[in-house]
Amino acid sequence: MKLNIIAKESGKSNAQALFFVKKSVQFSAILTEDGEKQVESVLNGMSDGVFEDLEFLEIDGVATIFVNAAKERGISSLDHLRMAAYRLAQRASKKQIPVVSLMLADAAPEQFKSIAHGLAYADYKFDAYKSIKKESFQVTFEIIAGEHTAEFKKIAEDVAVEQKAIVLAKNLINTPAADLTPADFVERARTIAKYTDGLTIKVRDMKQLEKEGFMGHVTVGKGSSRPPFMVTLSYDGTKPARGSRADRTSADHLVIVGKGLCFDTGGLCLKPPKSMPEMISDMSGAATTLAAIQAIATLKIPMKVSAVLCLAENAIGNMSVLPGDIFTAKNGKTVMVDNTDAEGRLVLSDGLAEAGLIGATHIVDLATLTGAMVRALGYAVAGFFCNDDDLARAVINCGEDCCEKFWSMPLEEEYADGLKDKFADLKNTGSDAGAISAALFLQEFLPADTAWAHLDIAGTAFVDKKWKYTDYGATGFGVQTLIELARRMGAGSLSEACGSYEAV
Ligand code: BES
Ligand code: ZN
Ligand code: ZN
Repeated sequence: MKLNIIAKESGKSNAQALFFVKKSVQFSAILTEDGEKQVESVLNGMSDGVFEDLEFLEIDGVATIFVNAAKERGISSLDHLRMAAYRLAQRASKKQIPVVSLMLADAAPEQFKSIAHGLAYADYKFDAYKSIKKESFQVTFEIIAGEHTAEFKKIAEDVAVEQKAIVLAKNLINTPAADLTPADFVERARTIAKYTDGLTIKVRDMKQLEKEGFMGHVTVGKGSSRPPFMVTLSYDGTKPARGSRADRTSADHLVIVGKGLCFDTGGLCLKPPKSMPEMISDMSGAATTLAAIQAIATLKIPMKVSAVLCLAENAIGNMSVLPGDIFTAKNGKTVMVDNTDAEGRLVLSDGLAEAGLIGATHIVDLATLTGAMVRALGYAVAGFFCNDDDLARAVINCGEDCCEKFWSMPLEEEYADGLKDKFADLKNTGSDAGAISAALFLQEFLPADTAWAHLDIAGTAFVDKKWKYTDYGATGFGVQTLIELARRMGAGSLSEACGSYEAV
């Protein structure tokens, strides 16, 4: 997919196809007057049901693609536009149309951004393991941008960086565990740090983790012949010398912590076979985190951002943690391992401690943490838990603007007693409300005075059917919201960034 952004007016295009979004009043605003009239004249006299999904018609010798943009329930207008663009790009590629013109001179910047993302999503395929690889036809999209030309060019550059990060996250998540061990993941992170200006990396292996007392992480990872690693990546965009876009500096330090279980068998509390293959995606939190910091550094966002990747494999071996074992976490609390399948919260407890050690003011952790979250909210909405109103509003608002839905869940103290153990300070399972208990467990390891959001992406990270702009597998969910959060934090304080959302 190639984007060519030009100023010229619609109706005079040399493209082989024109793109119009019809059927919804709200989208007619993105058409230029010429284009609108041209389509209207053809549409006159046609009944509403003519356009199934996408239809081609000849207008003055030019194929015109109509996208059914009728409002679907629950889909925001920006997302709707993104889905229409995605379908258009897929269809144009299948029909081998070399150049498609999009009349967007009247589009708002956020509408264009959504369209550009939608077009790019159509390019993704994960065919590394297919013996026969199908080449897809490359379409050039000519964006008629009128007076927005310069602005849209800038947006297109940002979208390209964001999409590169999304593709990175999806590829990591879709790769089977045998080909993406914790050590392989470390190598990927090292390569990214090497080629991304301003990004530094620190890697701790199991020996180092043990020496420093990150025993939650070690307890989970020691059962596997593929040992665990903790990776800390740092970027400081508040230093003008790095050529950042900073005209002011933020004192905030955002630390993103990602659950990186390259595979989760459940350990000795073995998972049933049906739910196991999907556990190649149990490192989605770490993949999303790595992707986000890569983009944040590439975009030179004027913020201090770090990323902590908690990489391990939850496997069965003669060194696997035994149910009933007790360890001391990095922050000094003792934990009894009641269920070896509740391993994510154990590695994250040490990830949160690391975030505190490197001076986080704000922590966002991402984890495919609980099956309970999948049952509660499904694949379309991620639940999150937050101890700070400004951060909570920012997560929801950034998500909404990126077409990623987040729902605020309670850190309900009534369930805290369920985490108490007879011998140790805590056990790693609660008695009720699985997703809330997991969040309450994590809160026990939160460094003092830190704003914190825990995003449980168990349902949204990976889909087992076609959904929006994903065929099957990793969605890349969360990458855009994290980038947007850093962008807004870098542009001002979090309370300014959180906008006017009322309902948290
Ligand atoms: N990785 C799983 C959670 C998960 C389930 C992610 C489905 C994606 C899809 C996690 O490690 C897990 O197994 N959690 C247990 C915790 C329980 C034993 C307290 C769960 O949710 O069943
Ligand atoms: Zn598990
Ligand atoms: Zn897990």
